[in-house]
Amino acid sequence: MFDKFAKVAGIFSEAMRDAVLFLRFNSYSPFVDKSKRAFYKIIIEAHTIEKGLSLHDPKLLFGKEKIRFVMKALSRYDIGHSPLPAHMSLGALEAYVNLHATAGLSDPLLDEISGYLKAWEARLPKPWKGGTRDYSFNGQPPGTLGHLMASRSSIRTLRPTQLPHDQILEAISLAQLAPSQCNRQSSRVHAYQEPVRIKELLALQGGSRGFAESVGNLFVVSSDICAWGGPGQRNQAYVDGALFAMCLMFACRSMGWGACPLNLAIDHKTESAIRRAGGIPAGERLIMMIAFGEPIAPETRVAFSPRRHAAEIATFHA
Ligand SMILES: Cc1cc2nc3c(=O)[nH]c(=O)nc-3n(C[C@H](O)[C@H](O)[C@H](O)COP(=O)(O)O)c2cc1C
Repeated sequence: MFDKFAKVAGIFSEAMRDAVLFLRFNSYSPFVDKSKRAFYKIIIEAHTIEKGLSLHDPKLLFGKEKIRFVMKALSRYDIGHSPLPAHMSLGALEAYVNLHATAGLSDPLLDEISGYLKAWEARLPKPWKGGTRDYSFNGQPPGTLGHLMASRSSIRTLRPTQLPHDQILEAISLAQLAPSQCNRQSSRVHAYQEPVRIKELLALQGGSRGFAESVGNLFVVSSDICAWGGPGQRNQAYVDGALFAMCLMFACRSMGWGACPLNLAIDHKTESAIRRAGGIPAGERLIMMIAFGEPIAPETRVAFSPRRHAAEIATFHA
């Protein structure tokens, strides 16, 4: 009896400490280094521009406010912290200008961006790693695990055609090769193909604006909370669930499909609404959605999404 009470008390006390840790170190915290906060903020906003550019038919002059914000924030940013936000922003802005030049459109904003880019060339020489890059489903199928990993990208140019259930099950069974703690296999996957339901689920998710109409196949990856017990395991649903979701995206790629992870960084109210809309049991924690399907064409375009140098994120300890 005491043991059970201690477990319940532990869950509350760990939840409280989670909250304190998050408050202390989250992106709004004044106790976190300014450059570090700016690094993430600029990347997030620059990504919305590269993402807009990676859509099948980007809307002209989209995201004017975001663009002004990125230019202002980057001007104040110390690139000595890491040049990555500058690469992403400048590459995306350059691709934005090029898109409109190709469309033959002129606008004061485009002149403003061009001037801004010119001024930056002296500080950070080209080529800038940002904007979009060409992506091909053709050529060598990914032969090694390394090739498979290198050939995956978030694809937002999908064909809405529904994929056959047996092939979807094949992809799911590949994803089941993901490791899981004690082999518990708590991950669950809900697959949807009915357009009205997909529309409802994506509207609740909110991160697929601009390509939601092209999603004809959707996964919601979840994790059975019942597999976990005690305060130390309070976050394990996310660990196992995320590993499974990653394998599912690789499985999609190995099937020749495009896939795009869709965040479920949501509150309990939205999580419940998604569970209701998706017919998902109350005891499952939602991990993420994955839009998937055949690519619109074998040759397509994806957001550049450059990576940091490995040395920037690694620490070798004695
Ligand atoms: C957990 C998670 C949530 C994501 N959510 C979204 C989303 O809501 N909408 C979207 O378009 N992309 C989303 N992405 C895709 C990221 O933007 C993308 O993975 C990142 O820019 C790296 O690019 P890559 O996947 O092409 O390598 C998400 C990725 C992850 C891992």
